[in-house]
Amino acid sequence: TEIVPGKVVRLPGLIDVHVHVREPGATHKEDWNTCTAAALAGGVTMILAMPNTNPPTVDENAFQITQKCAKLGARCDYGVFVGASSDNYKLLPTIGARAAALKMYLNETFTTLKLDDLSIWMKHFENWPPHLTLCAHAEGTHTAAVILCAELCKRPVHVCHVARKEEILIIKAAKERGLPVTCEVAPHHLFLTSNNLDVIGHERGQVKPPLVLKEDQDALWEHMSIIDCFATDHAPHTNEEKNSAKPPPGFPGLETMLPLLLTAVNDGRLTLQDLVDKLYTNPRRIFNLPEQSNTYIEVDLNQEWTIPKAMKYSKAQWTPFTGLKVKGNVQKVVLHGKVAYENGEVLAQPGTGQDVRDMQATPSQQTQSMETQHGHHHHHHHHHGCSHHQQSS
Ligand code: DOR
Ligand code: ZN
Ligand code: ZN
Ligand code: ZN
Repeated sequence: TEIVPGKVVRLPGLIDVHVHVREPGATHKEDWNTCTAAALAGGVTMILAMPNTNPPTVDENAFQITQKCAKLGARCDYGVFVGASSDNYKLLPTIGARAAALKMYLNETFTTLKLDDLSIWMKHFENWPPHLTLCAHAEGTHTAAVILCAELCKRPVHVCHVARKEEILIIKAAKERGLPVTCEVAPHHLFLTSNNLDVIGHERGQVKPPLVLKEDQDALWEHMSIIDCFATDHAPHTNEEKNSAKPPPGFPGLETMLPLLLTAVNDGRLTLQDLVDKLYTNPRRIFNLPEQSNTYIEVDLNQEWTIPKAMKYSKAQWTPFTGLKVKGNVQKVVLHGKVAYENGEVLAQPGTGQDVRDMQATPSQQTQSMETQHGHHHHHHHHHGCSHHQQSS
């Protein structure tokens, strides 16, 4: 991290491991073009796209449809998740090497992919190759359940969007036991609580996991060292949908994450090193992501502004953070040697983003994945003995 005069700081291009792109199936909410424009405007140069699309990314055909949309539309680099369904645990491992990771939905949310049965969970834990990442939406007691399933299979698990005190504490306890558990936290759970719902609107403010108590939020900040990644859970729904009587859950977040986190850096609640660890180094290690050549962002730590009614690029055209005063902004994004964002304008064109699984792994990254993620040398051999551990940080 190099600090230059004027409080402009250069950071690596950020990696957001949890993004709902909405294409295919709901392009009125977002598409690959607008989603990756929002990413770049937020200093994010690589996104991993969630599988709760229409069709959901649960088989070879749907995976190829999503990949095609991504290839045509993406302005930044990307990976595509596959989703666990009740009957695709035999099918998915063949997609494994081409996917960002496997996603399992264990709670009710905006998806058709909820899995109820523990024996189905276990099938996925047993069949998904142990050196590939397995992520779970696992709220409340489900956090403990999913950690147990991973332990029974002796494989790593990544817990998505940790929001509650009980969740971060059980993950802390698991890490203290040496279990290969990693986790991410979304900006809305760090910067908003249920106290903000009077302003956002109690229906409009629906999100899964929900905005919870100040006590929960405090526990996240207190256990910053347990949090491996920040991830937006960018879940755009239109302003009209969010204003309806029964709105779908989810918040857009790509364009506001970094300004909020830079504000926390300015307030001394976070360091720039935390930011690099949780939005670059740890995501790369946990998801085995390639280095992006000649890629960096420049942020102005001094710029003070107020988050408006809507950000520029996401089709959501609303944000739960409206009215928050922030200090810090993205000034410039360089992706693979080209200026991708400058002076408030996204310059990178649709179709220029690359699939991370098509990108060349650098020697340093291969070393990292073998030493850190596996702890020993082996790759692409699948064994069902479940005998691998990923070291959690
Ligand atoms: O609030 C949410 N929205 N939580 C989820 O898990 C899904 C997401 C969405 O896709 O809208
Ligand atoms: Zn292995
Ligand atoms: Zn989720
Ligand atoms: Zn999500």
